[in-house]
Amino acid sequence: MNILYKSEPERGRIWAGLLAELAPEANFRQWPDVGEAAEIDYLVAWQPPEDLSAFTGLKALFSVGAGAEQFDYAALPADLPVVRMIEPGLTSGMVEYVTFAVLGLHRDMPRYLQQQQEKKWLAHSALPAAKRRIGMMGVGTLGEAVLQPLVQLGFDCAGWSRTPKHISGVTSFVGEAQLDDFLTRSDILICLLPLTGATEGILNADLFNRLPRGASLVQVGRGKQLNHQHLLNALESGQLAAAVVDVTSPEPLPADHPFWQHPAIWLTPHIASQAQPESALTALLENIRRCERGEPMHGVVERERGY
Ligand code: NAP
Ligand code: GLV
Repeated sequence: MNILYKSEPERGRIWAGLLAELAPEANFRQWPDVGEAAEIDYLVAWQPPEDLSAFTGLKALFSVGAGAEQFDYAALPADLPVVRMIEPGLTSGMVEYVTFAVLGLHRDMPRYLQQQQEKKWLAHSALPAAKRRIGMMGVGTLGEAVLQPLVQLGFDCAGWSRTPKHISGVTSFVGEAQLDDFLTRSDILICLLPLTGATEGILNADLFNRLPRGASLVQVGRGKQLNHQHLLNALESGQLAAAVVDVTSPEPLPADHPFWQHPAIWLTPHIASQAQPESALTALLENIRRCERGEPMHGVVERERGY
């Protein structure tokens, strides 16, 4: 079986070494060392080669990340399975990051860090977790995993998705019809939605105005979901108190962008979670074996719904 890898060379080197142990039958090629394109069975990439016409034997295209919105689907064969990355290392990273962000917001850390700058020793009353309402937009692989520790910590948790969820300790809200009810009870709103036609620009003034006054945002989905100016306006007016932003459009932000210096914004460079080489390779090989056996793979993108 021939695998072509086209992404960060460092991970490629790690994978090449691990594959010799984990799947000696696999022939691993790293872009641009394609060899005979027609021999490639599996392509693993963030961005595939522009012209795939010579890859006549391709059985699947795997994204190296959880997102698969970056592909130009019109340029891909209609029947080629496109598979996003689901692997425990990536999930754990997101659980850590969002738990950290929620606790930081819950315990008023942006305000206390600002006070530290001002050498101001001033305590504010703290809400117990049970009185803090968390709203998770997107209750998929990552959203559901992140909700587990938040429920454990005693937060009042809800999720919003396209289809109903049954998760202990989490109230499920579904679709546009229940978005308003979901937002009005979200003191800390987390976005873990995929980027699709329906979610592009979703974090905007209209949505912020439906949150309780003084709510906070954790944006870990995709940059194009957030309207930057609307977030700045909401922080300025006090409608929002603070935001933790890991993804922006563009990435990186220009040097003069107001997010860099904003006291109520914690900005990180799209590092909330990353696939870990070892566990990602194990997940990839499991999917390849499933494909070889004619079994359904984990994380196949449903093209018509966009994720
Ligand atoms: P997933 O398993 O596909 O889950 C997506 C969730 O979003 C599902 O619950 C889905 O609802 C819901 N959803 C999609 N469109 C919706 C809509 N229009 N209205 C309401 N709900 C909608 O994806 P995942 O693996 O959890 O990953 C989510 C996203 O996280 C990725 O696409 C990526 O953008 C982002 N991400 C960011 C980082 C980072 O470092 N910042 C890292 C990894 C991933 P249903 O369950 O009803 O289908
Ligand atoms: C990172 O953002 C990913 O999609 O894995």
